[in-house]
Amino acid sequence: DDTRVARIAAAITVFPGFPKPGISFHDVTGIFHKPEVFRDAIGLFVERYKGKGVTLVAGIEARGFFFAPTIALELGAKFVPLRKPRKLPGEVISEEYSLEYGTDRIEMHVGAVEPNDRAIIVDDLIATGGTLSAAKRAGAEVVECACVIELQELKGREKLGKIPVFVLVETN
Ligand code: PRP
Ligand code: MG
Repeated sequence: DDTRVARIAAAITVFPGFPKPGISFHDVTGIFHKPEVFRDAIGLFVERYKGKGVTLVAGIEARGFFFAPTIALELGAKFVPLRKPRKLPGEVISEEYSLEYGTDRIEMHVGAVEPNDRAIIVDDLIATGGTLSAAKRAGAEVVECACVIELQELKGREKLGKIPVFVLVETN
């Protein structure tokens, strides 16, 4: 596992000062340039959740979409997109979360979650945890949140209360 994690970490590029001063962008797209590294990442998630009764994998727009559908397919679970505002037609459930300045919202289709679903929520990165904490309010029993990267300094997992967070690569 350490070898796989090291390969994943090596495929992540950090861009200091992007998209604005003071922020360092952790870019996961390099993982997808190497199919074997993509397979490493999916494998680590799937091995963790196989046999745990996960029936739903929620992915957060946009970068959570890079990972969540493949994990869902491998687990034989359904994939549910949690989208940015006004993208999903029909009836939606909305949850707001706070950003550095102002708020944003994610939306999910009403009916996407069924009463006995056991969910994991997938995103590329947990920073302040605002995004994931909105996602966890969407309705299912959330087994765990799963991310590729955790920016530990921002203490995002504290915002998630009792819901565990599983990450492949920890950094500051
Ligand atoms: C980024 C990242 C996570 C979120 C983490 O998404 O992909 O979803 O921020 O930050 P938080 O823990 O402080 O909420 P962003 O909304 O920037 O854009 P994206 O559409 O490219 O995923
Ligand atoms: Mg995102």
